[in-house]
Amino acid sequence: MDRLRPAADAVIITGDLTECDLVSEYAEPRAMLARELHVAVYVIPGNHDRREVLLRELPGVREADGFVQYAVEDFPLWLLMLDTVVPGAGHGELCPIRLAWLDRTLGKAPDTPTLIGMHHPPFQCGIGHMDRIALRDPAAFLAVVSRPSPSRAHRQRPSPSPRDRPLRPGYRQHLPSVAHQVELDLSEDAPSVFTLEPPGYQIHRRRPDTGVVMHTALVDSYPGPFPFLEDPDYPAPRYRAGSSRSRNQSPSTLTQNVVSTTTALGASRIQGARVRYSRP
Ligand SMILES: [Fe+2]
Repeated sequence: MDRLRPAADAVIITGDLTECDLVSEYAEPRAMLARELHVAVYVIPGNHDRREVLLRELPGVREADGFVQYAVEDFPLWLLMLDTVVPGAGHGELCPIRLAWLDRTLGKAPDTPTLIGMHHPPFQCGIGHMDRIALRDPAAFLAVVSRPSPSRAHRQRPSPSPRDRPLRPGYRQHLPSVAHQVELDLSEDAPSVFTLEPPGYQIHRRRPDTGVVMHTALVDSYPGPFPFLEDPDYPAPRYRAGSSRSRNQSPSTLTQNVVSTTTALGASRIQGARVRYSRP
């Protein structure tokens, strides 16, 4: 992550930095974060962490109303780190105290775009054993974050803001973990098992004109980058130009010089190849 160009403004880590929440377990992530990341890092607990130990062992973690939750107001996109942990349980919950804090904090700048970091997802993903430890009563959370901005009542021509748009059922996404991955088994009785698929993370790039665009990246290093070597006979530029030839000539098979990389079982293989493929 520290090699990203341009550099990230901040990194958020939404919990489970340890397995058993032992004080000794925090030494490694604490050293790793200090060594590898030279940007601001914001952390909240997961169901494998304990608030009091996390607060003591990691720098920059803050508390509000007895929970590890806080707002980061240093960027055009606010970061709201929300504590969903239930001590001793795997699932997540938001009690009235946390919901009130969330509502109050969002209300400080209702028209400011805000990204909320939380450990337990407020939706069902389809993997049975994960859904059973998701956020309970997500409707209460969604009601708070969907509440129309009070400032709108004073405007004659309100402009839309993220908080003015109720969150409707629709697009939801799961991301790769930076450690092991839960096996992708979308069944109710999926066994609780993990795989060693490549660890990853997600980049949230926000610009006023595009909003937030998310990119999924892998933690590990892979061969490359390599330049794309285009065959002089590759017809795509002619198609792009929209010439009469491109309209009349539509070959079903094209040839392209590529350098491709494939990875299997941890072994990387670089292949400089002349690849034939069919265009439907
Ligand atoms: Fe967890």
